[in-house]
Amino acid sequence: MKFLWFRCDIIITSTALAVAVIAVALAGFLIKKELDDSDNTERHCRMTDEALSSLERFKSENHTAFVLGYSGEVGKALVEELNQLKVFKRVVLIGRRQVPLSVGPEFEQRVVDFENLDDHKDAFKDLDMGFCCLGTTRGKSGVPGFIRVDHDYVLLSAEIAKAHSCKHFSLVSSQGANKNSSFLYPRTKGQVEEALKVMHFDRLSIYRPGLLMVDRQESRPMEATLRTLLRPVSYFFPTAVTTPVKVMALAMINNGMVAGDKVEVYDNKAIHQLSGISKGCPMKRSASAPESTKTK
Ligand SMILES: NC(=O)c1ccc[n+]([C@@H]2O[C@H](COP(=O)([O-])OP(=O)(O)OC[C@H]3O[C@@H](n4cnc5c(N)ncnc54)[C@H](OP(=O)(O)O)[C@@H]3O)[C@@H](O)[C@H]2O)c1
Repeated sequence: MKFLWFRCDIIITSTALAVAVIAVALAGFLIKKELDDSDNTERHCRMTDEALSSLERFKSENHTAFVLGYSGEVGKALVEELNQLKVFKRVVLIGRRQVPLSVGPEFEQRVVDFENLDDHKDAFKDLDMGFCCLGTTRGKSGVPGFIRVDHDYVLLSAEIAKAHSCKHFSLVSSQGANKNSSFLYPRTKGQVEEALKVMHFDRLSIYRPGLLMVDRQESRPMEATLRTLLRPVSYFFPTAVTTPVKVMALAMINNGMVAGDKVEVYDNKAIHQLSGISKGCPMKRSASAPESTKTK
């Protein structure tokens, strides 16, 4: 088109070329992430297998646990799996509000005021494992509110739990957590991880999932857009950058049933491997209850 000051054909060709280069780079990144076999793959897959075989033994040991953030998406998935598997003799669900739940008699809800957690210390009493799925967003709670929940509430709870005999503390952190990041979210996650490490639990498990795949009721437009964009990616590269909440929940349970290191940080691939239901491991089995036995 000669009347234009620019050449359409050149622009169209260059744009197509740029898009192709970006697509190839992105595909390369995702393939690398998906196929990246860390040295720990075998170990994680063995742990998952071991979790399945030690299910009955673990049950017979009468362990007890608490769940923080049980009304959130990961927390709900965790409660559902715990209710199916019945691995704990007693599970205390600690939160700021009562939630309607249809779970077994081993579950007990405890409503606490996180601003005065010292007044609710007994909620953590005699519970040997803790699962923390607490969290909020900057959009919902503002910067101070986000730090208060994702950092302060986590540490306050962990301190009380430790004083009350919690041996194994599990935290749902996030991919990219880094105490030195200039961004609030990864920095806060990194800082809370570091603070937990120096509390010296007998065992500390930190999970760094990718984007959580869940049909969230709450409106979070950015997250929802990202989830829509990554849905096809998660189909072709399931362990690369996304984490279904059920995978997250089962990874925590399986890992809790077997022996592990004093401090463990699990990336997204490891979470998939530990879950036993993802493509992260060649094995087909998992500690998850068979679909047919689940209550609707
Ligand atoms: N969204 C993602 O894609 C993604 C990715 C990686 C990691 N993560 C991290 O994974 C963790 C779990 O995520 P999620 O999506 O399951 O979280 P969620 O659905 O937002 O649930 C958060 C939980 O924390 C509780 N909570 C929030 N604010 C609170 C407050 N002020 N006082 C007391 N409790 C409060 C909520 O209780 P109420 O129900 O009462 O509000 C809920 O139980 C979070 O730490 C998150 O940062 C998320």
